[in-house]
Amino acid sequence: MRAAYSLATMKKTTGMDRKVTQKWRPATQAVRGGTWRSEHGETSEALFLTSGYTYDDAATVAARFAGEDDGMTYSRLQNPTVAMLEERIALMEGAEACRAQASGMAAMTAALLCQLSAGDHCVAARAAFGSCRWLVDHLLPRFGIETTVIDSAVNEEWDKAIRPNTKVFFFESPANPTLDIVDMEYVCKLATAHGITTVVDNAFCSPALQRPMEFGADVVAYSATKLMDGQGRVLAGAVCGSEEFINETLLPFQRNTGPNIAPFNAWVVLKGLETLSLRAHKQSETALKLGRFMEERIVAAGGTMLHPGLPSHPSYDLAQQQMDACGPIFSFVVDGRAQAHAILDALQLIDISNNIGDARSLMCHPASTTHAGLTDEDRAEMGVLEGMLRVNVGLEDVEDLIEDMDGALGVAGL
Ligand SMILES: Cc1ncc(COP(=O)(O)O)c(C=O)c1O
Repeated sequence: MRAAYSLATMKKTTGMDRKVTQKWRPATQAVRGGTWRSEHGETSEALFLTSGYTYDDAATVAARFAGEDDGMTYSRLQNPTVAMLEERIALMEGAEACRAQASGMAAMTAALLCQLSAGDHCVAARAAFGSCRWLVDHLLPRFGIETTVIDSAVNEEWDKAIRPNTKVFFFESPANPTLDIVDMEYVCKLATAHGITTVVDNAFCSPALQRPMEFGADVVAYSATKLMDGQGRVLAGAVCGSEEFINETLLPFQRNTGPNIAPFNAWVVLKGLETLSLRAHKQSETALKLGRFMEERIVAAGGTMLHPGLPSHPSYDLAQQQMDACGPIFSFVVDGRAQAHAILDALQLIDISNNIGDARSLMCHPASTTHAGLTDEDRAEMGVLEGMLRVNVGLEDVEDLIEDMDGALGVAGL
């Protein structure tokens, strides 16, 4: 008999099943949720760098392809390391199921295309990450899917945009980079009443800070590149939903189009999730202190702070209700591109970088980077102004960050 690791063997050695693990509290889920051990009893999750699997006999492989045996068949369909990540994210999110993806954009594309067909209509937030807007403005219409973009912070705009063929609501909260907040309870209730599926891009928060399903969201999609990895190492994504949505709607799309995450990247994100909550809360706390330090000075110079943790944010109360903490990301607006670039160029500690969620503090000018692909009109309509800067606050000492920001604002004449 040839030895083969099967999912069944792994399950047996740990004795873990969903009925037990889903009772654990979030901090426990983050470290242990979804762990399967092989017969070697490894403490840290094993990294299964394999594209295929071998079988004891032909009947076994036939049974697996027929869905009668729960072993693995091919890593586009299942991989043990990826499966551990999926189970852990699902448990942290409070979702029935999750499928990991190669990147955040793979996750958004799969979450939308798996359920939309020609003739359907999608309502999306106008303030969104540049590539998410590209999906809505360019990709979906190419396949005959109608789209409408709205001011997602205004509840009535969601009501007004509904058509008989509306199938999906798609939004970020907070949005990148304008930090617009969506009233998730209102919007998700409205969607349910009209048989519409809500897809929430929760990249700015992660389940450590906000769990959209608690407010009625159907599908939560992630760039796990951001807070979940949290150390700027890999691209990764995830889509969470009901068993029915994941198995019957997402999986046929995913298995046949292949936007799958590499097992190595899945393993890196598994390690990231162990410290996610600590990082997300500490980074939020530092972001609030840095924001408080900057606000008066930015406003005195005629600029604007867009920070969900500051009472000046137009949706401050809603953000307090929906988010456990304000998150590590905020934006501010100064007097045009030249001043914004001058601030970036004067930074000595904070890096100029367009990533977010990293343990390093990073800052970028969205109009010339993450949102450069949009038209001037679209950027203006979304509120991505020429003078806007977006900050990702990391794990450095807040005093060093304040000193760096103080110096850079000073050099730029603020
Ligand atoms: C809100 C949001 N969604 C999706 C993405 C895309 O993620 P990825 O770069 O992992 O494809 C990003 C990237 O910045 C983002 O900020």
